[in-house]
Amino acid sequence: MGIESSCDETAASVLEVSRGKIEVLSNVVSSQIKIHKKYGGVVPEVAARCHAEVIFDVLKKALSDADKIYNFPLCKRGIKGDFKNPPQPSFSKGGGLQIEDIDLIAATEGPGLVTSLRVGVLAAQTVAALIKKPLVGVNHVEAHVLSPFLSNQKIKFPALGLIVSGGHTELVLIKNIGKYQLVGSTRDDAVGEAFDKVAKMLGLGYPGGPAIAKAASQCKSQIPNPKSETNSKFEIQNSKFSLPRPMINSNDFDFSFAGLKTAALYLIKKLSPGELKKLTPAIAAEFQKAAVEVLVSKTKKAAEKYKVKNILAGGGVIANKELREALTKLDCPVFLPELKYTGDNAAMIAFAGHQKYLREKKNEVFDIVANPNLSL
Ligand code: KG4
Ligand code: ZN
Repeated sequence: MGIESSCDETAASVLEVSRGKIEVLSNVVSSQIKIHKKYGGVVPEVAARCHAEVIFDVLKKALSDADKIYNFPLCKRGIKGDFKNPPQPSFSKGGGLQIEDIDLIAATEGPGLVTSLRVGVLAAQTVAALIKKPLVGVNHVEAHVLSPFLSNQKIKFPALGLIVSGGHTELVLIKNIGKYQLVGSTRDDAVGEAFDKVAKMLGLGYPGGPAIAKAASQCKSQIPNPKSETNSKFEIQNSKFSLPRPMINSNDFDFSFAGLKTAALYLIKKLSPGELKKLTPAIAAEFQKAAVEVLVSKTKKAAEKYKVKNILAGGGVIANKELREALTKLDCPVFLPELKYTGDNAAMIAFAGHQKYLREKKNEVFDIVANPNLSL
């Protein structure tokens, strides 16, 4: 069972791993988005209280959702079998699981908001001690980058991992699961943070990523009319509203999104409310294009330099359609998580935790500490 509470989503998931095949039996995510929306961002104290209120209900739901027909050997007439003590299914369709059926617990220990992390860690420690099963702490960023594994994809190493979320923008060389080398990261804002801030400037609300993507898609649907001075697409094509692609040509694999965000701010400030309304789709599209171009260009260069066999990507921003499409066009095979595993979820925590336990065989039930600054 995986437990996730690093930011504003309380999540629990039950994973079954049998002969290397992964099956997500349940994936429960209780989001606080509606609560934080009115503040325009996550309020840590509010987030922690919400986690505490729902965490045990989320765990219970992850157990009851974990419906599966147990496949025990049938004792058919004429076939030898132990008829007196037939194997009993430990759970059956409709019954869900009992907490005692869980073999291993994995909880996010960092990075994230410390007060939020503590709720998940404490709940995990309590349950693990109660059922006397091992507990492992999981790095949230590692879990994001490994999320494509949840779809049973055959991924080859060395691979390059791109993590794009609200708190992180990183490129990591993955020598194997558990062996990472950071090759680039953001020097200021994370890409998701930039999406959120630009969306706020445009009055599109929180979370900004899906809002920017939606507004940008409206720009695309406009028919370009080269004769119209006010047509946003035409103006973008004529670079009237071009935004910078920060660090796109730098000789490293670092990113910077603060400059892009500020350039968007200066552009927005110049517009009257009427112009802003009209040009919001165009600005959203240009911002999204700039962010995607930088991410894809750096990923391509890093993949070539480190001669990786595959590229993996994870994190909330990988839900972005333009980014997904651009990455899949790269020469190197790219593995992306299914949309339900892009944002914060506990299935990815369960997978990363299981892998860690296979490697280290260590029960951390009394050692795990919520660490807001945990790095890979
Ligand atoms: O991974 P995640 O759920 O939480 C963190 O670990 O930070 O990522 C959340 C981020 C937010 O900044 C959100 O705006 C962004 O992912 N996001 C998107 C999209 N969906 C979510 N960004 C761009 N396009 C999207 N479709
Ligand atoms: Zn995340």
